[in-house]
Amino acid sequence: MTAILRKILLSTALWSLLVNGAPYSHGGCPSGKASVGKAIYFLTNDAENAVVAVPIASDGTLSHGTVTATGGAGSSSISGSTMMPSGPDALLSQNALTIVGQNLFAVNAGSNTLTMMSICESDPTILTPVGKSVSVLGEFPNTVAASAKNNLVCVGSTGAKAGISCATFSPYAGLSEMDFLRPFGLGQSTPPVGPTNTVSQTFFSEDESLLLTTVKGDPTANKTGFISVFPVNPSCGCGPSSLSPKDTRSSPPGTAVLFGSEPIPGGSSVFVVDASFGAVILSLDEKTKKASLFSKQVIADQKATCWVTISRATKSAFVTDPVVNHIVEMSLTDAKIISTVNTTMANASPGLIDLKAAGNFIYALSPGNGTTEAEVLVLNVSGGQGSAKVVQSFGLNALGVGKSAQGMQVLM
Ligand SMILES: *[C@@H]1O[C@H](CO)[C@@H](O)[C@H](O)[C@H]1NC(C)=O
Ligand SMILES: *[C@@H]1O[C@H](CO)[C@@H](O)[C@H](O)[C@H]1NC(C)=O
Ligand SMILES: *[C@@H]1O[C@H](CO)[C@@H](O)[C@H](O)[C@H]1NC(C)=O
Ligand SMILES: *[C@@H]1O[C@H](CO)[C@@H](O)[C@H](O)[C@H]1NC(C)=O
Repeated sequence: MTAILRKILLSTALWSLLVNGAPYSHGGCPSGKASVGKAIYFLTNDAENAVVAVPIASDGTLSHGTVTATGGAGSSSISGSTMMPSGPDALLSQNALTIVGQNLFAVNAGSNTLTMMSICESDPTILTPVGKSVSVLGEFPNTVAASAKNNLVCVGSTGAKAGISCATFSPYAGLSEMDFLRPFGLGQSTPPVGPTNTVSQTFFSEDESLLLTTVKGDPTANKTGFISVFPVNPSCGCGPSSLSPKDTRSSPPGTAVLFGSEPIPGGSSVFVVDASFGAVILSLDEKTKKASLFSKQVIADQKATCWVTISRATKSAFVTDPVVNHIVEMSLTDAKIISTVNTTMANASPGLIDLKAAGNFIYALSPGNGTTEAEVLVLNVSGGQGSAKVVQSFGLNALGVGKSAQGMQVLM
């Protein structure tokens, strides 16, 4: 097959996937969107790092699952308060793995590499490594973003060498070598001492023209967190897409420990949680690439609100806290609290970390604390705003998953 033909076939496959399988497609599906995902994915982040894939049944619930080694090593940050390895939230991040099309990308925080795998079309729990894992050039990679439009995958590292590096990818050949490290200068160690003063999440804007990264400040050290914005230089006759070497940083007043984020569909605003008080909506100025505060909402009984997902079914955001056993639903217009789901009875551990909305359901990871069992809670949101209900607590002991687990993605 010629390279060009391959490329055409690939983009046709990608297009049909986008049209038929994406959560907010308007073609393909009679209802305009898929109501149930195919499988969930997260990392064990153990010394022998692996990706866990658990299939989703037609009623949204989970069963069985597979564990596929990445060939790399996981790691754990050090808790600044106990000076012991942390867990839950070993990586202090959102998006420790990511999916575009049938391609999955996973960070190996202990071996400073990125692994690419392909997801089998007929069985989404069968994962096959593609090409070889590549060095991220930084230390303690903890978050990854991929853009199908640009064939670009970018990793955030938050150890002694912290910053952003990118590679191109192809479904057949895998990853190219990473380009270079765009440093953040956090003055961290490897592994980092957190949770403050670390990279939280890297992600592409909705149109994939910008790479955004949230970095936590450290209020006790008078250190300001920021949101970094790197433009993507699109591909042209002269070569593939690349990420600009230089970013623009801003520290919206009122924010301190920016953590998980997701662009709000259909605009230039981003929903961002802040571990020190709750959540904000930031507006991004397309000219200056600076973020400013649009709305701010304190969650009164929170301890560390760190992860967020936006549900297309409810058109609202859901946030979690590893220390408070609840999931809070918030408005995409002003971040006001819509409802609070008390997860105490469903979750053996004190709280939840990474979560992902998919169709009429939300999947939230609770890695446990080494004593309590790791679980994924499944919430049914098909009744719209204010309707979220836990419908399953899926125990992870059978899959050998422990307190280092991190990340959450869903294949639609
Ligand atoms: C924090 O930094 C600000 C601005 O640099 C300075 O005015 C203030 O005195 C500092 N506070 C502490 C406690 O160091
Ligand atoms: C959550 O539910 C538990 C168990 O029913 C209860 O003890 C606790 O007070 C509830 N928390 C809140 C904030 O209502
Ligand atoms: C884990 O959490 C449970 C439930 O909150 C608690 O009883 C237990 O002491 C914790 N274990 C550790 C090692 O922190
Ligand atoms: C989810 O909620 C809908 C009602 O909104 C209900 O019909 C359906 O059975 C629920 N699914 C599960 C798995 O509980």
